[in-house]
Amino acid sequence: MTSQPPQVRRHLAQLPGYAPVVPLAERARRAGLDPEDCLKLDANENPYGMHPKVRAALSDALADPHFGSIYPDPNQTELRAALSHYTGLDPSMIVAGAGADELLDLTLRALLQPGASIVSCPPSFGMYPFLADVNELKLIEVVRGDGFALDREALLTVVDDVGAAGVVVLTSPNNPSGDLVPGDVLCEMLARGATVMLDEAYIEFAGFDASAQELLNEYSGLIIMRTFSKWAGIAGLRLGYALAHPDLVADLIKVKQPYNINQAAEVAGIAAVECADEISEQIESVRRTRNDLYDALLEIEGLSPLPSDSNFILVGVDPGIGTGQELHDRLAGVGVFTRTYRDPLLTSHLRISIPRADQLDTLTERLGSVL
Ligand SMILES: Cc1ncc(COP(=O)(O)O)c(C=O)c1O
Repeated sequence: MTSQPPQVRRHLAQLPGYAPVVPLAERARRAGLDPEDCLKLDANENPYGMHPKVRAALSDALADPHFGSIYPDPNQTELRAALSHYTGLDPSMIVAGAGADELLDLTLRALLQPGASIVSCPPSFGMYPFLADVNELKLIEVVRGDGFALDREALLTVVDDVGAAGVVVLTSPNNPSGDLVPGDVLCEMLARGATVMLDEAYIEFAGFDASAQELLNEYSGLIIMRTFSKWAGIAGLRLGYALAHPDLVADLIKVKQPYNINQAAEVAGIAAVECADEISEQIESVRRTRNDLYDALLEIEGLSPLPSDSNFILVGVDPGIGTGQELHDRLAGVGVFTRTYRDPLLTSHLRISIPRADQLDTLTERLGSVL
């Protein structure tokens, strides 16, 4: 072969890429363990898995001779009706995507030209800098302060500087610090005319009372992102949705990939909404286990857990124990898979997803064995 392969655009060739979680089977193989003996606590999935009623809906769908062989509904009519029931908002304010990730990307591309600004408050979800890179956006980072609390004053100053030409991305509860965005900061930014993309991927674990959804009627600059990956236990099917002003939703529907929601995700999403009351028992259990794990971590010398409104806990690791990465590696050796970060703000931290209630003792025992 003499010819060169086509070259990707220069700014893309230079990117470090997103650091995704390694699949469970691969992590277990590296540890020399059976995946069934491991605790997968690295991606904040629902530890109880897909609800049996959702599984049954998928299996019923497979019996339909048309399932999977014809294209899905590009307007997502039934799914948006189910989401309307779930959120209490009109379907004209809802659009679904192949995970919240797709909608974050789509919305940024739809709203911002290359070179425009995206404001984020690290440490936060690694997808935001990745999308800024891929879409050639200027990333303005307002680093969080003590205990990873938002720096209100600095954020408001940047919001004023950027004006309507940029998008502010905030996460509530934040991944990885677990705290909610204070309502007054959000209202202040919106009142100043900012476009705010509020990522509520974990809102079910904080409770809908903590959602900013009510503000959608007041401020057309607010866009809320949600996902089925965390509460509904269907991360592998890829389903998320955005809530926004009907004009923006209409435009997003126009520019999205027409068949972005596959039929399995559509069936599972509708079924999950229909049995949301039963799934909320799993969510309640995760919240109780989160509080138990927090108390247990507080008792361990050298570990400093942060309070969390989510389904994970960020843990500060004392240098006497090692770096976050070192503790992560030791835990991986005993089949406990957690999350660490390249971000220099997080080298002495480790994030642990909340396990099932019956797995908590195994987690604390294995943690004790490597300290
Ligand atoms: C804050 C946040 N937003 C969005 C996502 C991605 O959600 P989805 O699986 O729907 O793409 C994640 C996943 O980890 C997340 O932590």
